[in-house]
Amino acid sequence: MTASTLPALRPLTLGRHQVWPPVVLAPMAGITNVGFRRLCREQGGGIYVCEMITTRALVERNPKTLRMIAFGEDEQPRSLQLYGTDPEITAAAVRIVVERDLADHIDLNFGCPVPKVTRRGGGAALPWRRRLFARLVKAAVDAASPAGVPVTVKMRKGIDDEHLTYVEAGLAAQEAGVAAVALHGRTAGQRYSGTADWDAIATLKQALDVPVLGNGDIWEADDALRMVAHTGVDGVVVGRGCLGRPWLFADLEAAFHGRPERRLPTLGEVAVTMRRHAELLVDQFVAGARNPARGERDGCTDFRKHVAWYLKGFPVGGELRRSLAMIESLAQLDDLLGKLDPAEPFPLTALGQPRGRTNSPGKVSLPDGWLASRDDDAVPEGAELDDSGG
Ligand SMILES: Cc1cc2nc3c(=O)[nH]c(=O)nc-3n(C[C@H](O)[C@H](O)[C@H](O)COP(=O)(O)O)c2cc1C
Repeated sequence: MTASTLPALRPLTLGRHQVWPPVVLAPMAGITNVGFRRLCREQGGGIYVCEMITTRALVERNPKTLRMIAFGEDEQPRSLQLYGTDPEITAAAVRIVVERDLADHIDLNFGCPVPKVTRRGGGAALPWRRRLFARLVKAAVDAASPAGVPVTVKMRKGIDDEHLTYVEAGLAAQEAGVAAVALHGRTAGQRYSGTADWDAIATLKQALDVPVLGNGDIWEADDALRMVAHTGVDGVVVGRGCLGRPWLFADLEAAFHGRPERRLPTLGEVAVTMRRHAELLVDQFVAGARNPARGERDGCTDFRKHVAWYLKGFPVGGELRRSLAMIESLAQLDDLLGKLDPAEPFPLTALGQPRGRTNSPGKVSLPDGWLASRDDDAVPEGAELDDSGG
């Protein structure tokens, strides 16, 4: 498919921000920190969302949370995702963001399917309580709008196929004044299994006037063009597809400009990207650490989880993989990367394949009586998370 066959390719408008190409790096806890976002931003345009920040932790000035709200000096717009379940705490958190000028865009997370969150009525369980959901979104919008900071929501289709919420929640969010709505085309019960339902994304696009962003299963740049053609969405949100492949954002940039080139880096080029990624994480951790030596080790530890994604499909022996996934310093990383065959071509078998989480579906844990009480707008107890990024 070429860009010329697409319905409309124009910048994504998020309040006062114009985003071109209309590409969003999905917030991913433990992944989309300042170092990873810079690595991706070096590849192409778009908006790059930080790791999830918990409203309560922000309001309580939790030091780890405050450290996580870090942006590059050239990062524009600075995009922050908040997780909350209590309208008042969420409004207080948003007020901190705007008063301290911590971000230029706020996304609200209603997509988390983790049992410890849904069991208490948070994350992907929350939109089911439609009045609470509307109140929470409005509280955030009202706190952000005096500063001109646009608020968006990110959600799933619903709890499960029998309890879908996305159209109603999308309309409620629009009514509350959000700048856009992003839909991950899975229910909470699906977790990361099966395929994302792009028809549902098309349905939401039809139902709303505000921009709609489509999310789920964009593994290659051409999947993004296909999603736009299939659904008419105003932008795409890319998560797991860029794990170990930050150059996907270069491909997306090319695709949205109608250019055919796609990157197929050799193992040597992948090694250069791995080195850059590790170095950016080290810079990030050194900047946040009291002891710089510890910062290098922490940055290298954070990098370890990315190793298998970078090497997926390449013929690299188990021992070398294991050593790379245990590095403690950049010198050690350089030594090990030097053992890779730089001429090894990119494994075409790895293209278009799921990566990252692909866990199986399951029954969604919910608080007692949750499904029978759609109009109860009491704040669920214990659903706020203490910690960010989890
Ligand atoms: C490791 C990981 C962490 C995630 N953390 C968050 C998060 O903090 N907030 C959120 O809204 N979604 C989170 N997600 C979901 C993604 O943003 C995205 O909606 C999902 O992966 C589907 O998109 P994809 O098919 O492009 O990966 C996470 C996903 C993964 C794999």
